[in-house]
Amino acid sequence: MTDYATITIDGVEHQFPLVTGSEGERAIDISTLRSTTGVVTLDDGYANTGAAQSAITFIDGDKGILRYRGVPIEDLAKHSSFIETAELLIWGELPDPAQRDRFRQMLSDQAPLHRDMRKHFDGFPSDAHPMAIQSAMINAIQAYDLPEIHISDDPTFERAAAALIAKTRTIAAAAYKSHIGQPMVYPRHDLNYVENFLHMMFSVPYRPYEATPEVAHALNMFLVLHADHEQNCSTSTVRMVASSGANLFTAVSAGVNALWGPLHGGANMAVIDMLEDIRDSGTSPQSYVDKAKDRNSGVRLMGFGHRVYRNFDPRAKILKEAADDLLNKVKVTDPLLDIAREVEAAALADDYFVERKLYPNVDFYSGIILRAIGIPLDMFTVMFAIGRTPGWIAHWKEVHDNAAQRIHRPRQVYVGPTLTEWVPRPDRKDKRKKR
Ligand code: ACO
Repeated sequence: MTDYATITIDGVEHQFPLVTGSEGERAIDISTLRSTTGVVTLDDGYANTGAAQSAITFIDGDKGILRYRGVPIEDLAKHSSFIETAELLIWGELPDPAQRDRFRQMLSDQAPLHRDMRKHFDGFPSDAHPMAIQSAMINAIQAYDLPEIHISDDPTFERAAAALIAKTRTIAAAAYKSHIGQPMVYPRHDLNYVENFLHMMFSVPYRPYEATPEVAHALNMFLVLHADHEQNCSTSTVRMVASSGANLFTAVSAGVNALWGPLHGGANMAVIDMLEDIRDSGTSPQSYVDKAKDRNSGVRLMGFGHRVYRNFDPRAKILKEAADDLLNKVKVTDPLLDIAREVEAAALADDYFVERKLYPNVDFYSGIILRAIGIPLDMFTVMFAIGRTPGWIAHWKEVHDNAAQRIHRPRQVYVGPTLTEWVPRPDRKDKRKKR
């Protein structure tokens, strides 16, 4: 096996080392490409570019494998709490009982918002999108609770990680309460992370909400499955912002905004919109699938396809079973689940989807679970953001801890006008309309 890749440019051969990861993935290290040859690589969308060497999450998209710090996602979904999964991602190993207790206490201490932070909610219009509130409020945490924003020592980092994980959940619930005109509910110290969130979302002063074990279990699993996914769009955003030396809260706030897009975290809302559209319009699932095959229709099958998984998304497999299980246990029927099953069957039997290796992704069934729990549709992407927070923190830490880290600064191939003469204002012609 060669240890070098050879690239020939203008008849001259150049050698670049091959790097092999712990799971055998190989990459050409082209870090000296530009300085030695004068050329750069072009990889629009980065589908062939390894942006980092990372020890956090391993994905094999062809085999449908997802592991956090080496632990299979199936085991974590079955056995682990969201918080110990978060500790695994951030610090590299599952916590022992003493570590778990310490972090639990920190989360409990950090759960409430600063009194003045609560006033921010009054400044948002009542119909503001929850993701706008989420990103703005996460950015604001640093101004209130952590004047020391250069998190360079471990105890400060641990406290900041706890603050972010605990508060992002309190912010989400408070934004919802503010939106529906109910008083904000304080967190309780005796509830676990997931139960506490459901309490802050659904309790009212005259009627406390008690989460059933089935609902708490399903939500815990949803969060575990969303906790990290290596170099996806929002995580790459967090890493990019972190590389400039920006603090944890600023970087994660940027990640929330990246997640908002319908091709990323926004897809879980788009799936429900799509299923409701099929139900309300009376279109058959088969004809909707046919429409999604036509490029000119502007329709894509939401919750289908993935940049990395070209076989199946292991998270979708777990969530499909979990959705069935939850609806059976809470004795709720959801016609959208039946439509989802029909859409899935029609697409999986269709050459268009088979040839392009388009399978259901994590978003296809997660919305059914969130609906059954009672989470409103416009909060779905916020739920994804709560789940992804530990991953973002782990990646921020990995960038921060890398002594050799340079600021991320990609190159480009410029295709705009060459040297162009400056024209005085009276002589300019409006060319924009003709473009
Ligand atoms: N419905 C119909 N056709 C699709 C779909 C889809 N959902 N996804 C991809 N295709 C087609 C494309 O039109 C393209 O066809 P072509 O070869 O004829 O040009 C081919 O499959 C390859 O598609 P790309 O866009 O190149 O795939 P890419 O890897 O860039 O995009 C993405 C992946 C964004 C997830 C895409 O599949 C998509 O838009 N899916 C729907 C949105 C979605 O569910 N997003 C959630 C992703 S998971 C997550 O963020 C947690």
